[in-house]
This record gives sequence, C-alpha cells and structure tokens, in this order.
Amino acid sequence: MIQTELFKRLGSEIPVIQTAMGWVATPQLVAASTQAGAFGFLALATSSKDEAIASIDETLRLTDKPFGVNLHMFQPGAAEIIDYVIKHQIRAISYSRSPVPEYISKLKAAGVLCIPTVGEVKHAIKAESLGADALVIQGSEGGGHTGETPTSLLLSEVLKSVKIPVVAAGGFRDGFGLAAAIAWGASGIAMGTRFMMTQESPVPDSTKEAYLSCNTSEIRVTKKFDGLPHRLIFNKYITSLDKASSPRIFLQALVSGWRYKQLSQASFKDIFKAFFGMLKGDKLTIAQTMMAANSPVIIQKAMVEGKPNRGAMPSGQVAGLIVDLPTCGDLIEQIKNEFFIASKNFKEILDES
Ligand SMILES: Cc1cc2nc3c(=O)[nH]c(=O)nc-3n(C[C@H](O)[C@H](O)[C@H](O)COP(=O)(O)O)c2cc1C
Repeated sequence: MIQTELFKRLGSEIPVIQTAMGWVATPQLVAASTQAGAFGFLALATSSKDEAIASIDETLRLTDKPFGVNLHMFQPGAAEIIDYVIKHQIRAISYSRSPVPEYISKLKAAGVLCIPTVGEVKHAIKAESLGADALVIQGSEGGGHTGETPTSLLLSEVLKSVKIPVVAAGGFRDGFGLAAAIAWGASGIAMGTRFMMTQESPVPDSTKEAYLSCNTSEIRVTKKFDGLPHRLIFNKYITSLDKASSPRIFLQALVSGWRYKQLSQASFKDIFKAFFGMLKGDKLTIAQTMMAANSPVIIQKAMVEGKPNRGAMPSGQVAGLIVDLPTCGDLIEQIKNEFFIASKNFKEILDES
C-alpha cells in the first residue's frame, strides 16, 4: 500500500493524479486511469456546458471510481457545470486562473474537494486563503501553461508557505519521482504528459509518434502561441509562429477565434465574458487575449485530427524521456514497483549507517 491522507480522501489506490489535458483527459482516459488506481481529472475547460455535462455522465458510466473535473471558473456555463458537479457528488474540482470565491464556498459546503493548480508561490498562498483543500504545484518543466520555477524549487518553496497538502507536478513519469516527491514532503504527484502517452489516451497514433520521437531540448516555452508562457513541442508550426510578426499572429487569431466561436456554440456575450475574465485574471493585453482564442483550434489539429506538424502539441519536457505507450494499468504497476525499489534504496542506506 502506498497511500497519503489526501489521496485517502480522494479515494484512489495510489497517490498519483492524472491531470486535466484539453482533448486528452476524456472520459475514456479518466476511466482508465482511475480504474488502474490513480485519481483522474476530466478536462472540461474547453467544453460547452452541454458537452461538459455529457462528459461527466459518460465518465460516471465508464468508472465506479471517484474522479475530478477541471474547468475555468470564468468559462461560459461554469455556474451550471458546478451545480452538476455538486448534484453528482464529484469528488474534486481543479482550476487555475481567476478563481471565483462564491463557487469555491459552494463546492466546499457540498463536500467537493477544491484542488487548484498553481505555478508560483504567491498564487499558492492566495489559493489557500480562498479555501483550497490542497494544491497541485506545477514546475516549469511541466506541459501546457507553465511558470518559471522548476518543480523541485517550487515544491520546497510552497511547502514552506502553506499548511494544506501539496501535490507535485511537472516532469514526473515513474515511481522514483513519486518517492522523491514524497521524500520532499509532497502528498503525491500529478502527471499529464505520461498519462497522455498511454494506450488509452485518445490522441491519434501519428501524434503520439511525434511525442515519442522528440527530445527534451525540442520542448520549449513560447508566449507567441496564446499570449501566456506555454510549453510545447517546437515542431515546424510552432517554430515559425515563434518567429512571426505581431500583425500576422493577430490576423490568424481573428480567423481561428471565429472558428472557435462556431465550434463551441458560445455566444458573443459568452466570448466577451470569458475574454474579460482572462484579461482581469492575467493582465493580458487585448492582442494577447485575441491570440488565446486561436489556441483551441490549433491544438485540436494535432491532438484530435492527428496532424502533428500542422498543430500545437502541449508537452512536458519529460516527453523527451518517455519511450513507450503502456496501458494505464501497466503504468501504475510499474510506478508501484519503482516506488518499492526506491524505498529499498533508502532502507539500505539507513541500515548501513
Ligand atoms: C497535452 C496537454 C494538455 C494540457 N491541457 C491542460 C488543460 O486543459 N488544463 C490544465 O489545467 N492543464 C493542462 N495541461 C497541464 C497538465 O494538466 C499538467 O499540469 C502538466 O502536464 C504536468 O506536467 P507534466 O506534463 O510534466 O506531467 C496540459 C498538459 C498537456 C501535456
């Protein structure tokens, strides 16, 4: 048994979170990761209200294990999705930017654990003051939107600054990493890229191949993709975007933002509400906010349509070290074995001294 207090409350077998990833952490992946013994978060931040509700229903149908959902509290339909989460007693909710205090109070009163992800110590302190039950800290090596501080340093800094349990994310792939995080004082680890590179992940094979064949130096951070520091594989598309002029990026954002509006069935009012929520939360410029509208369409090209060179592939640097696509069950078994090897290593050192 490998267990910590937080994960006992979450109801998973081992202290490992499968994190939310847009178009990746689908009901299919969450069901597989939770059935295997991890705690999975369903990615709903890019879903309309109806899609989010359908995904929650589908996950409830596919797994009898507890799971969580991830959303932006400023996204269109957030209030209704939160009511649905409460109605179905979903175990936990994760969020990052622009948390809404009334929603947090409502969720906590209903017994839903609030576990935001943060990338800076000041955000960790703020999240705790707003009532978070635990935190996931994501170090700079992590995939998707990311901060500047490496996981090991951010974890130590946050552990000193808050009293609630802290889960470490960014760069983890195995049981040795789990043992290291626990040794530091974390309550467990959270992994995105590693779970994306499993058999049950819905990402098309052509795109999984691109992740398998890249190395750590090709997985870098750019702000040119959606205005925020975003860690992605620098394929042909991202490399050229990273060098592009601002007018070209803005034009592209306008076209894709329009397509996103059609895809997500959001009204102009919804889109403006979401934009202003982002502006308020992140102090983005209007141009950067327009660029953010661009990102879902481009990410889907790689992650859904299977065109790795024409789309964007958010990725942790850890993809450079991942060389296989196990099932979630095999991955969790491997993590348990490695954790026991790590514990034996500790024990041998202690016995010798
Ligand atoms: C393909 C991909 C998509 C992601 N999408 C989201 C998302 O929609 N929402 C979110 O909060 N984090 C997202 N992330 C970040 C992950 O949830 C997680 O924090 C991160 O992957 C941890 O670092 P790791 O990849 O080194 O494990 C994404 C990461 C990846 C790799």
